[in-house]
Amino acid sequence: MLETLARLPEDPLLGVMAAFRRDTDPRRVDLGVGVYKTEDGDTPIPAAIQTAERELLGASTTKVYVGAAGNPRFNQAMLELTFGAGSEILASGRVQALQAPGGCGALRIGAELLRIADREAVIHVSDPTWANHVPLLGNTGLRIERYPYLDRATGGVNVPAMLAHFEALSRGAVVLLHGCCHNPTGADLSAADWEAVADVCERRGLVPFVDVAYQGLGGGLDADAFGARLLARRLPELLVAVSSSKNFGLYRERTGAIVVVSPSSERTAIAMTQLQRIARGMYSMPPDHGAELVARVWESAPLRASWTTELESMRTRIETLRASLVAEIAQRRPDVDYSFIARQRGMFSLLPLSAEEITRLRDTHHLYMSGDGRINVAGISRRNVGYIAESLAAVIR
Ligand SMILES: Cc1ncc(COP(=O)(O)O)c(C=O)c1O
Repeated sequence: MLETLARLPEDPLLGVMAAFRRDTDPRRVDLGVGVYKTEDGDTPIPAAIQTAERELLGASTTKVYVGAAGNPRFNQAMLELTFGAGSEILASGRVQALQAPGGCGALRIGAELLRIADREAVIHVSDPTWANHVPLLGNTGLRIERYPYLDRATGGVNVPAMLAHFEALSRGAVVLLHGCCHNPTGADLSAADWEAVADVCERRGLVPFVDVAYQGLGGGLDADAFGARLLARRLPELLVAVSSSKNFGLYRERTGAIVVVSPSSERTAIAMTQLQRIARGMYSMPPDHGAELVARVWESAPLRASWTTELESMRTRIETLRASLVAEIAQRRPDVDYSFIARQRGMFSLLPLSAEEITRLRDTHHLYMSGDGRINVAGISRRNVGYIAESLAAVIR
């Protein structure tokens, strides 16, 4: 049986990372991997999570199964984080969350739910989008199409082209939107753009599927939830996939949730029964450890305060690095405009580089990034920002 299988090519990003590890040059810089990093290149566990973990270790008495919906206190925390504690939408009962194995798990079971609801549904993703969106959503059998998103001339969003695409869709089409910190471009929608998206979704009967993987790392916890909150207020239906990987530093603990908003609490409860069945059929139930840690941090005033302070310092570090990189490039190359980097949000920016320039940056300057020109801004430090700018200045035309 296994003889029939063909070997698949290696994920190109893994190849870049392997080349980085082999590079012994002291100037080498890893801007490839999509995890948050400190000045020293570490990806630490937030202090509040460490405290919660120590407390949990002392208090745990059982590892008995959780249900298919996961940890209810975590689900409540995710609802409050996404929509705001005491918000009207939470009080309405129109919204519920089901814990999933990371944001990836949430995207997948959300797409499975859509497929059960409508086998012919088409999911429209931004051009470009995070590469994993395509298999996560498309392996359900649903068709994936692309809508115009990045304006490569400005590094911003081509809002008119995106809205024109949405305007031409038929009722029930699904539009995948990045709630904040667009991956890979860093180009986010403004408040006015979200309003315009809500207008067209309302008019055309479109179903938004909002991917919130970086809440707190763009404009702040509330600002980054603006789009999801607005759509939930204005539209009858949407899905939200949330991840605790980046903002709670829980990557390998696989902690996330799928959130369903429907016109009524009855409809939402029905959708939750479907989601539970999907979860049972795929992995039975999600891992609890990360979810329990998030619930403990969220429920404890001092731990929550510590977490929000630490998250805010991560966010401002990224913002400062963006501004420094722009200034350092401008100093060396006043003829090129890379100011878009400072206008973008979150960990990523997509640099307008050719494949040949990306290779030259790697081979000559020891600068490693994804093959599409995506850089992880958190991989920059105050120490190497000048070197990175110098390398870019030497290569960009
Ligand atoms: C855009 C986007 N969505 C979702 C995720 C899901 O992350 P995880 O499954 O690790 O929670 C990521 C992680 O890189 C992401 O970049």
